[in-house]
Amino acid sequence: MREFLDVAIEAAREAGAILLSEFDRPPTITYKGEVDLVTQADRRSEDCVVTRLRANFPKHAIVGEESGGHAPQAESKGEQPPRFCWYVDPLDGTTNFAHGYPCWAVSIALVENDEPIVGVVFNPIAREMFTAVRGEGAWLDQKPIHVSKIDRLAISLLGTGFPTHKRVQNPNIHYYWRFTLSSHGVRRDGSAALDMCSVACGRFDGFWEFGLKPWDTAAGTLIVREAGGRVTNFAGRPYQPGERECLASNGLIHEEMRALALDIAERSPAQSGS
Ligand code: 2AM
Ligand code: CA
Repeated sequence: MREFLDVAIEAAREAGAILLSEFDRPPTITYKGEVDLVTQADRRSEDCVVTRLRANFPKHAIVGEESGGHAPQAESKGEQPPRFCWYVDPLDGTTNFAHGYPCWAVSIALVENDEPIVGVVFNPIAREMFTAVRGEGAWLDQKPIHVSKIDRLAISLLGTGFPTHKRVQNPNIHYYWRFTLSSHGVRRDGSAALDMCSVACGRFDGFWEFGLKPWDTAAGTLIVREAGGRVTNFAGRPYQPGERECLASNGLIHEEMRALALDIAERSPAQSGS
């Protein structure tokens, strides 16, 4: 497991250096859709991470946001899909990056049979490296981290986020409104991977978001769980990266957050997000 973690840390550092060098100059931006921008930095960072992972683990599958993001398949009929799969978000917080707002990260996770077993999230601006190994714990710059001890929603600081496209179809504005009135405050920093790490190290007490992809959340999910927190869907079942709803918390306010989320969905079924 140590070898997986070491290679992921090394890849995240290398990609982070590329991103920092790109952050210092005006980015070349192209758009995949109306507002779905992809920078040259995304591509260079992903190439860097994928090259390093492939060189070290040639038999592992790799799913990167920029290179299509398809789940691993067996190469030919009758073969099993690969047991190990890396999920790579080469630049989580692309919108922030493109606007010069210093809140973005590289996120790398190794998943074995749908379970994240290694997670790395690197914030190059803050020089913060969040890591976790299943069953062994979570760390920030090699020091163990733990979720907060806040046990009431009313005094909690929360995080959430909104997708960059199809915002009209996203129900989150209703949840944002109610959670803002029911908590100490709600931040929307623009990087789901960093939001989840903020829960893991106790800066946030909870986080929720709709429609995140496995590369956004696979590393963060493991980091939160290994720091003592809980990550579920709104039904309370363990969250699988890529599911529609993601609810992460310190565990203590989880049921209160979940009850409020269900109440919002119930009062306004059209906004339930399903
Ligand atoms: P990105 O910066 O890599 O696009 C914003 O709170 C979070 O949502 C970010 O982690 C962002 O990742 C992600 N995000 C933005 N648009 C998205 C979309 N259309 N689908 C899924 N995730 C998205
Ligand atoms: Ca992302």
